[in-house]
Amino acid sequence: MLEAIMFLLAYLLGSIPSGVWIGKLFYKTDVREHGSGNSGTTNTFRVLGKKAGIIVLVLDILKGTLAALLPMWLGSDVHPMVVGLFAVIGHVYPIFAKFKGGKAVATSAGIALGAQPIFLLCLAVLWGAVLYTSSMVSLASIIAVIIGAIASLFLGDPLFALIVWVAMIIVIVRHKSNIGRIKNGTENKVPFGFKKNK
Ligand code: G3P
Repeated sequence: MLEAIMFLLAYLLGSIPSGVWIGKLFYKTDVREHGSGNSGTTNTFRVLGKKAGIIVLVLDILKGTLAALLPMWLGSDVHPMVVGLFAVIGHVYPIFAKFKGGKAVATSAGIALGAQPIFLLCLAVLWGAVLYTSSMVSLASIIAVIIGAIASLFLGDPLFALIVWVAMIIVIVRHKSNIGRIKNGTENKVPFGFKKNK
């Protein structure tokens, strides 16, 4: 019973559509109607600017981290990553936003932060390096999850690795349109790093 409550709480946490709510509440804008159409951090930065982007980034990471910490708080021995996965599912298919959610990057980072902070820190450095050299958030996210999935196999925690692999698959599937744009050279770029939009 405790497990079921925990999974439900994690799903509901993940379901909080930070980008949509922040946009509608403070900017009278639905981020899903602009830019890439995604409700995540990158599109919030793109559409609403730095301040809103940072808030949504923190909230989306926090959703995953809080979910991963639930077993510790509630005295359950379920692996934090398993609970965290429900937050990722909530983020991607949010009950509070007609099941149309984000691309799972920030919330997946959040659960890894709660379960393996050093691992996440290393991936964040890699993510930053790819972003700086390519100016593509999507490419940085895809490379970071792939390397993260490979690296997770060497941490001696099979369940952690399994959830990282599941998260990688979700992230890649959710980036299908980005992958198409990367391939044909039309992916959106952020205005810093080496390769800016013309
Ligand atoms: O985390 C999402 C990011 O990798 C891509 O977002 O809005 O450019 O599709 P977007």
